[in-house]
Amino acid sequence: MLTATALPWLAAVPAVAQTAPITIKFSHVVTAEAPKGKAADYFKRLAEERTGGRVKVEVYPNSQLYKDKEEMEAVQLGAVQMLAPAFGKFGPLGVREFEIFDLPYLFDSMEQARKITQGPIGASLLRKLEPKGILGLAFWDNSFKQMTANTPLHMPEDYKGLKMRIQSSKVIEAQMRQLGVLPQMMAFSELYQALQTGVVDGQENPFSNIYTQKMHEVQKHMTITNHGYHGYVVIVNKPFWEKLPPDIRTTLEGAMKETTAYFTKLAQEEDQQALEAIRKSGLMTIHTPSLEEKAALRTALLPVHEQMKSRYGAELLDQINKEIG
Ligand code: LMR
Repeated sequence: MLTATALPWLAAVPAVAQTAPITIKFSHVVTAEAPKGKAADYFKRLAEERTGGRVKVEVYPNSQLYKDKEEMEAVQLGAVQMLAPAFGKFGPLGVREFEIFDLPYLFDSMEQARKITQGPIGASLLRKLEPKGILGLAFWDNSFKQMTANTPLHMPEDYKGLKMRIQSSKVIEAQMRQLGVLPQMMAFSELYQALQTGVVDGQENPFSNIYTQKMHEVQKHMTITNHGYHGYVVIVNKPFWEKLPPDIRTTLEGAMKETTAYFTKLAQEEDQQALEAIRKSGLMTIHTPSLEEKAALRTALLPVHEQMKSRYGAELLDQINKEIG
C-alpha cells in the first residue's frame, strides 16, 4: 500500500481532492437594483446554497461584461453561460417570434401576459431557441413600458419628428414609425448619455428601468401610457447546460423556478415604487393620459399588429389572441 513514508509528497494531497466549482457567468444590462438585477442575485444565492457550493454564479450587471448585442453573441459562444434579455433583443439572433411581445397593446394586463409566457405558447417559443445553441429556462414577466421625452406627450401627434431610442426590434421600430418618430436602435448601456447629450429626444421603458438608470434626471416628461409589455427570457448556453451533471441541472432548474416566482412578485412592487420615487424626485412632469388620449394612442398604434404579421407569424398572433380571450 502506498504510504506517506513511502511517498512523502502523498501527505500533501488533500484527503478528498476538491474539484473546482462549476462557474456560471450571468451577464445582464440593468443595474443590480433593478428587478432583473435583484432576480439574478437571488438565483445566484439559491444556486450556490442548493448545490453546496458545487456551482458558483458570477453576476455581471449593468453591461459590465457585455452590452446588448454582444451578450447574445457571447452566450452562443459560451463566453457567458446565462443571460436574461428582453424580447426586443432576439431579432438579431434570427428568432423573430419573440418580437410579437413587443406589439403595442398585445396585453391589457400582466395576468394576460403570464397566461401566454407561462403556458404552452411560451414553452413552444422557448424551443425555437435550441437551433441557435441556446436553451430558454424561463420567462420573467416584468411590467408595462412608459414613454419619456423632453416635450409633453399627450396625443399621437406629439411624438411626430422625435428621435426615440428603441431596442433592436423591428416591431418596436414599426410602432415608433407609426407615430412619425425617427427610431434609433441603441444599446441600453448607451441610452443615458444619448438622452443627456440630446442624441435622442426620448425612449420607452418600465418605471423601474427609467428610475434605476436615472433617466428621470435627463428627461423632462413621462406619460403613463402602459402601451407595451416588457418581459425577459432567461437563456443559457445549450452545450454547457446539457453537460451539467444531471443532479446539478435538476437543482438549478428548481432554483430558477423559485427565482421566477420571486421575480413575478418583485417586479410589480418595484415598478410602483420606482414611479413613486420618480414622482418624489420632482424632476419629471408625469402625465396620466385622459381616456381620449389613451384611445387616440391605441387607435394610432393598433395597425402595427397587421403591418408586422409577416415578422412574427399571423398564426402566432391568432393563437395568443384566442388564448387570452
Ligand atoms: C432596454 O434595452 O431598454 C431594456 O430591454 C433593458 C432591459 O433589459 O430591461
